[in-house]
Amino acid sequence: MHYDATRNDHGLALDPFKALIVPRPIGWISSLGADGSVNLAPYSFFNAMSDTPAYVFFGSAGRKDSIRNIEETGEFVCNLATWDLREAVNATSARVARHVDEFELAGLAKAPSRYVKPPRVAETPVAFECRYEQTVRLAGHDHEAGGYAVVVGRVVGIYIDDRFIHEGRVDTAAMKPIARLGYSEYAVIDEVFRMRRPD
Ligand SMILES: Cc1cc2nc3c(=O)[nH]c(=O)nc-3n(C[C@H](O)[C@H](O)[C@H](O)COP(=O)(O)O)c2cc1C
Repeated sequence: MHYDATRNDHGLALDPFKALIVPRPIGWISSLGADGSVNLAPYSFFNAMSDTPAYVFFGSAGRKDSIRNIEETGEFVCNLATWDLREAVNATSARVARHVDEFELAGLAKAPSRYVKPPRVAETPVAFECRYEQTVRLAGHDHEAGGYAVVVGRVVGIYIDDRFIHEGRVDTAAMKPIARLGYSEYAVIDEVFRMRRPD
């Protein structure tokens, strides 16, 4: 098939788009509101854009609590979503009132961050401490204001659980990161292969 992505006339029961850009890493975003409220939620329109300096982004479908908090207080943390934490990741996506602390909702512990105020998920092996850089608002179809916004953050601190560092390298497969596919499907990275670039 070949369909018009503006009209989305794929004719399928479910939109296939997210099943085609895979796997998408999950930014499990912790943030604080100006009133000190704590928030945690998964975002799979998430990735790194660069490494020196490191920038990350996530895309929000509408003005959710995470984007509100980050624009208010200027900081956030991206926690790594893993196989062991998969149920907690899902639980923190619940549509709850802004004052609800999703760490408590999902039975997660908070660990202090070093360079920013929002806590990280204590159970996660990796966390990126970020300073808010900018929000890019995306136009909808026909260049009208769309509901999506992309939040960009500059990574200022990185936590890695030392148990996953072996001989100077991070053991990605041992951390078992999970990633989002389409529909309600996920992938887990528990096996990797190496390939060297041509000289
Ligand atoms: C694995 C996963 C990935 C998600 N990715 C996104 C995303 O990229 N963008 C988005 O707007 N919502 C996404 N959601 C839904 C949000 O997590 C959900 O709307 C949540 O309530 C937002 O929380 P907040 O209002 O506290 O920021 C995702 C949910 C799950 C379970």
